[in-house]
Amino acid sequence: MADITEFQVRKDKLDETRRVQHDKPTIGDGQILAKVDRFAITANNVTYGVVGERIGYWKFFPVTDEGWGVIPVWGFADVEASNHPEISVGERLYGYWPMASHLVITPGKVSAKRLADDAPHRRELPPVYNSYARVSNEPGYDGETDNDRMVLMPLYATSFCIYDFLKDNDWFAAKRVIVGSASSKTAIGTAYAIKSDAAPPTLVGLTSARNRDAVERLGLYDEVVVYEDIEKLSSDVATIIIDMSGDGGVLGRLHKLLGDNMKYTSNVGVTHFTANEMSPDFIRDRSAMFFAPGHIQKRTKDWGPGEFEKRAHIFWRDAALKSRSWLTIQEAHGFDAVEHAWRDVYTGKTPAEAAWAVGF
Ligand SMILES: NC(=O)c1ccc[n+]([C@@H]2O[C@H](COP(=O)([O-])OP(=O)(O)OC[C@H]3O[C@@H](n4cnc5c(N)ncnc54)[C@H](OP(=O)(O)O)[C@@H]3O)[C@@H](O)[C@H]2O)c1
Repeated sequence: MADITEFQVRKDKLDETRRVQHDKPTIGDGQILAKVDRFAITANNVTYGVVGERIGYWKFFPVTDEGWGVIPVWGFADVEASNHPEISVGERLYGYWPMASHLVITPGKVSAKRLADDAPHRRELPPVYNSYARVSNEPGYDGETDNDRMVLMPLYATSFCIYDFLKDNDWFAAKRVIVGSASSKTAIGTAYAIKSDAAPPTLVGLTSARNRDAVERLGLYDEVVVYEDIEKLSSDVATIIIDMSGDGGVLGRLHKLLGDNMKYTSNVGVTHFTANEMSPDFIRDRSAMFFAPGHIQKRTKDWGPGEFEKRAHIFWRDAALKSRSWLTIQEAHGFDAVEHAWRDVYTGKTPAEAAWAVGF
C-alpha cells in the first residue's frame, strides 16, 4: 500500500508539480520514521528551489528522478516509529523537512534538547539544517505557538543574524539602512532588530506599490518608498542595502543613485526571482551574499555551543509576539491545500500580512 506522499517540483520549472507516492519504508537499526504534521510555505521556500542547484538545497531530500526535486520546509513532525533507544514514538520534533508526509531520520548526536540527522547524504550540508529540536522535552511546550514558530523562526533567526552582522561591522560607517522587499517577513524581522538598537540608523523600507500600505501600517520603517520612486531617495547619505528582492534592476538603480555612498550591500534573498539579472551599475566589490547558516556557524564558534540559539530564541519570541498584531497564518491540510499554498506563494499572490501552515 502506498502510504508516503511526496510533493515534487520540476527543478527548472518550479510551478510544474506532481504527487509521488511510495510504500512506507522499513526503518533500520537506530533510525526513526517521522510523520510530518505541518510546515510553513513562504517566499523563502521558493528561493530554496530557485537557488537549489547553486546552494545545494536539492541535496537534503534527494529523489531518484533527476529533473525533479523536493523543496525543504520548516515545520513539525511526530515520531511514528522508532528503532532508537532514546527516542520514543509520539515525540514531537521541529526542524527541516521535505514537502512530504514522512522522513526517515538516522539520528547521530542526540541530547535532551536536540537530535541531528546523520544520514550520509546530509553530512556535508550546513549543520543548522540537520538539527531537530525535541520540542516535547521543552518546558511548558503546548503547541500553541507551532504555527508562529514554523513560519517565523527560520526567518527571524536570519533577521537576528543580519542585525548582528551589521553591528559587528559598525554599520559599515553608514547612517541609513535601505531594506529591499521590505514587506517580506525576513525584512520585517530585520526592521524589528534594527529598531530595538540603542542608536539605530535611519531605516527605509523599499517595496512594491501593492504592499506599500501594509508596510506603512507596521510603523517600523522611518520611510517607505516604492520601487518606482527609488530616484527620489536622497543620494548624499552613507547607506547599507539589505536586499531580500534580488532584483537586478532595483539594485542597479540604487547603486547608481548612491555611488560612493553605497557602503555595503548584503544580498540576502531573491523574492523577485524572475528579475535577478544584475545590471552594469551593480557595485560588485561592495556587495556580498548573506548566508544565515554560515553566520550561525561563525557565532557558534565565537560564543560557544547553544549561545546563538539562546539569543536568537529570545529575539524570535519577542518579535513573533509583536507579529501577532499583523500576521495571519492560514492553516490548511491535504495534498490539494499544499499545492494551492505552493502556487499562491510562487506567484506572489499570498498577501504580505499572511503566511501558510500546511500539511498532507
Ligand atoms: N540568505 C539567507 O540566509 C536567508 C535566510 C532566510 C530568508 N532569506 C530570503 O529572504 C527572502 C524573503 O523570504 P520570506 O520568507 O521572508 O518572504 P515572504 O515573507 O514570503 O515575502 C513576501 C514578499 O516578497 C515579495 N514577493 C514574494 N513573491 C513574489 C513574487 N512572485 N513576485 C514579486 N514579489 C514577490 C513581495 O515583497 P515586496 O513587494 O516588498 O517586494 C512579498 O510581499 C527570500 O528570498 C528568502 O530566501 C535568506
